[in-house]
Amino acid sequence: MATIIAPSILSANFACLADEVKKVTDAGAEYIHIDVMDGTYVPNITLGSPVVKCLRPYSKAVFDVHLMTEHPETHIESFAEAGADIITFHAEAAKHAHRVIQQIHGAGCKAGVAINPGTSLSMIEELIEYVEMVLIMTVNPGFGGQKFIESMPDKIHMLYHMIQEMEVDCDIEVDGGINAETSVIVREAGANVLVAGSAIYGAPDIKKAIEDIRGKEISHHH
Ligand code: DX5
Ligand code: ZN
Repeated sequence: MATIIAPSILSANFACLADEVKKVTDAGAEYIHIDVMDGTYVPNITLGSPVVKCLRPYSKAVFDVHLMTEHPETHIESFAEAGADIITFHAEAAKHAHRVIQQIHGAGCKAGVAINPGTSLSMIEELIEYVEMVLIMTVNPGFGGQKFIESMPDKIHMLYHMIQEMEVDCDIEVDGGINAETSVIVREAGANVLVAGSAIYGAPDIKKAIEDIRGKEISHHH
């Protein structure tokens, strides 16, 4: 499966976000990963749907909105109208996760469900067949530039097997501490959508950074 690169604008310069989004799009990124933090589910506050709406004309890439918020159900329509293509919410933050997925689909977007490093796959097992993507957090959400948690590849691999056995079409996204080195590990484990913030926006050559993270295609024999 071809790897998709999703630069996280959390590590971009917020004073010139349009340029920053354009830059990674021109450098070949398929997705733009947009981290929405509400100051409650995670301590920081980042941006809301009006910013996404302003950015939309600057890129044809897929807008991959990662909601790190309480009450995700209150934010679906506004982000969909702003131009989100995929909306991912945290299973830990949703009281009625299945309904949130229906709501995302109803708003015309693809649905993703995210789980934190401390959350078991069992929390989302029943949701896999309904979502287009599962996001395995490889750091605790809230900040860019954190260290990749080394035990997460096992979880990615377990999810990969669950998806194979269920014979469903579901992407595996990883987020946190992804760089050219950890990329190899997560892709071998089965991830196909790779989020990277600091490793892309902090690099002197963005295009090279994206290609280094993309790496060579890996074939799975399981
Ligand atoms: C963390 C965010 C990530 C973050 C990743 O809460 O969800 O998307 O931007 O940043 P890096 O790639 O620097 O770990
Ligand atoms: Zn994210």
